[in-house]
Order: sequence, then structure tokens, then C-alpha cells
Amino acid sequence: AVGPVTDLRITNAVVSPDGFSRPAVLAGGTFPGPVIKGNKGDNFQITVVNELTDPKMLTDTSIHWHGFFQKGTNWADGPAFVTQCPIISGNSFKYNFDAHDQTGTFWYHSHLSTQYCDGLRGAFVVYDPNDPHARLYDVDDESTVITLADWYHTLAQDENLAQPVVADATLINGLGRSFVNTTSSELSVINVQYGKRYRMRLVSTSCDPNYAFSIDNHDMTIIEVDSVNSQPHTVNQIQIFAGQRYSFVLNANQPVGNYWIRALPGGSNFNGGINSAILRYEGAPVEEPTSQPPTTFNKLVETDLHPLEDLGVPGKPVLGGADVPHVIKVGRADNRFNINGVSFEPPSAPVLLQILSGHKQAQELLPKGSIIPLPPNKAVELSFPGGGQHPFHLHGHNFAVVQSAGNSTQNYANPIWRDVVSIGNPGDNVTIRFNTDNPGPWFLHCHIDWHLEVGLAVVFAEDVPDTKYANPVPHAWDELCPAYNKAHNIS
Ligand code: C2O
Repeated sequence: AVGPVTDLRITNAVVSPDGFSRPAVLAGGTFPGPVIKGNKGDNFQITVVNELTDPKMLTDTSIHWHGFFQKGTNWADGPAFVTQCPIISGNSFKYNFDAHDQTGTFWYHSHLSTQYCDGLRGAFVVYDPNDPHARLYDVDDESTVITLADWYHTLAQDENLAQPVVADATLINGLGRSFVNTTSSELSVINVQYGKRYRMRLVSTSCDPNYAFSIDNHDMTIIEVDSVNSQPHTVNQIQIFAGQRYSFVLNANQPVGNYWIRALPGGSNFNGGINSAILRYEGAPVEEPTSQPPTTFNKLVETDLHPLEDLGVPGKPVLGGADVPHVIKVGRADNRFNINGVSFEPPSAPVLLQILSGHKQAQELLPKGSIIPLPPNKAVELSFPGGGQHPFHLHGHNFAVVQSAGNSTQNYANPIWRDVVSIGNPGDNVTIRFNTDNPGPWFLHCHIDWHLEVGLAVVFAEDVPDTKYANPVPHAWDELCPAYNKAHNIS
């Protein structure tokens, strides 16, 4: 783990987390990257040092700190060509941002093309010394982080995005067994002591699949959802989508032994070492579990999640009763995805740079048709008709999930707030609301990275006139685009 002021070296290396060797893009020399840790109110200064050299993968980079609002520091948000030009090989760039009052479980990942699928992903935790859960729960240990990742034997640039991309392994904390080669590559072990209670942080760093996550013989009491404290809610299976996080309390109250931790992509049925890790009690033999899953699961249902403190809902308590309603309709044509008919293609100048260069009208901003202007201090409602199980992520905000996948009713009383939501299946109309309290261009996109790459995104240009004053950029930021353009012979 590394602290709030750190260098993060981005390098190429050959790794074999599932027994198959392939070159990768790593943060801090490991997969996953080191957990970045801090405390409430910390200022984070993370200097990304780009030492990438392998031309088979992208040698530029740009990193997003997923879940942080970046109030006043839109330039540090990370999505390439939205808030910055990529950092070229041989250069460094310091991301300097305050966590303000945000605490909980976050993550970081490359936000340049599909680079994070090649390995550049890791967890990020902000501890709260006065965690309100401490009143409710007496946890002995909160050091456990469980990252889930899909892993590929094909380099991201070589995947054919015209068809569904299929992972070769599920990795839990960077280890797993490939679906094609079930030899005995090592699995991750989470160690516990009988009689203790653990706060465990579950982070999906997935490029694509959602996972049905469970731990044999153990319940999980969810207390945090995407860095939002939630009312305790006990389940024994969590469907977690790309980009989402949960904290849960695990009571190590079962007979001393080994238990399977399962992360089944798309709810599939593999087990016995594939899609698995091991929960091991102190004193248990060092061997693989023989435990079985329950015959029926008590599954997490999103509408059962409620914030710990009342967060309200922006706008009037009726569907469409927000100040600014938008319908976000996912379409597919010509092997690409689109939103309301427009497929997102990154502009050559970052949207933030266009705004700082004096483009005041959202209509002048590129890419045309993919920029949605939002006025300040309004309640925005987004509804997503259609479905397709896309996990949508909004930058710069959390949102209230007024209507969840699989539900036809709305909750204006106490819905959960989060930053990634699945839009469910055809017939669903997932609806979210947020306040425009953060000037700047903010990405809204499907967190299936293969879908983002083929256009499943828009940019909200929030409060364009104030963006410049609200987000002073450092000098080093100004130098990113000239360096990038020079390196790529763009005039
Ligand atoms: Cu974690 Cu734009 O994403």
C-alpha cells in the first residue's frame, strides 16, 4: 500500500497471474497496482511516472481516480481527451486533489482507450477516523481489500470489438485460474481468525463481466456502496458490476477451515478453483476448500440498499419532476454503440481545454452531438430505457438511484446513492438524479471498457461559464497537449 503522497510508476512487464505469461501495463510494478490509502480530508499528490515502452500496448497513459468528485480539480479527473491529454512515455504528471469529506472505497485505473484491461488498475481507500459505522459495528480489522478482475490472454489492442470479448480468467487479488487451462496456478488466500469481525472491501476492477460474489458458509453485511455509507443489510450473494464497490462485515464464526470465495462472471457456474479464492481460518490446514455454496442464495437487491444518513433526492418527487430531465438511450449500429444515435469518438483537444480556450457554448464543443450542457444548481434526472446490463458511471458526482433495474416503481424516500448503476434488461427504465454542483466536463459512460472504446459515452458540460474559475489548472497540465501532439506528429 502507498500513502497520499506517492509516485506511481507505470511500467511494462510480463506477468502470469493465471499461469499464462503475457506482457502487461502495471502500476507500481504489480497486478493489481498497490492500494492507495489515505484518511478523510487528505490531499492526494500522486505523481504518475510513465515508463512504458512496449509498442504492442499503448505507451501513453492517463489515470482516473474513480469515485472522487474532483471539486475544483476537474483537470485531475483523468479521462483522456475529456479532461487532459495523455501523459507520454518518459514524462511524469502530478495529480493533486483533495478528498474533501469523501471516505470509503474507491479505485484507480487507466482512462486511455482500453488500457486498464492490460493491467493498470488498483484499489484506493480513504479511511474515516470517525466512521459512523463504529457506533453500529465493532469491527476488529478493516485491512482486507478484495479486488475482482477479468483477465485476458489477448492484448487489449488486439481484441476484436465487433464481437463480444471473452475473458480467459477471473482474478481475485491478482491471482486465478484460466478457464482454458485449469492447472494448479496459485489462488489468493484471505486469512481470518475465528471469533473476529472484519470489514472487507470488495472492488470490481472489471473491464466487462459482472460477478456473482459469495463466500461459502458466510453472510455479508453490506455497510458501504460505492463510497456511500449504507444502512447495514445482510445478504450472502452480491452481484457486482464493473466499477462498483461494497464494504461488508464478515463474522468469522464458522468452524475453523477453508471456504471458497466465489466470483462467478455473469453468474456462471464454474467453481473448484476457477473464479475462486480461499477464505482460510487461522489453524486450518493449507489445502483447497471442499465447501459448497448454499442451494438458494439470499441475493442483494439494489432497492434494499439505503444510505446510512438521509441524503434525500434532488428535484420534485415525481418521475420527470427534476429541473433537467434527459433520456439516455443506448443504441448499436455499425459495430459501435451510441447514445441517442451518436457514437462517442474522443476529440483531439480535451473538452476541458476547449472550454478553457474560450468555447462558451456547449454547441461549439467537440465531439459534436456527444456534449450535453448542464446548467448549475439544478436537479438532473437521467433515465435509461432499454437495458442491456450496461453499468453506467458518472464522473464528478454520486447519484440517487430513484428506479433500479428490475423495478417499475420509484423510490423518492431513501434510495441508495452511488456512482455506477446497471441499467438492467429490456423493459427496465433505470432512473438516477444528481445535483449540478460541480462545474466542469464530466464523463458518463458504460464501464464495460470494450463498450466505451466503441462509443458508449457522452460528456456533461456542467456550468461551462464557471468551469474556468472553478478549476484553475496547474502549469504542468498546460504542457500535456503540446507534448502529446509533438510525440504523435499532430499539428
Ligand atoms: Cu472508472 Cu470513467 O471510469
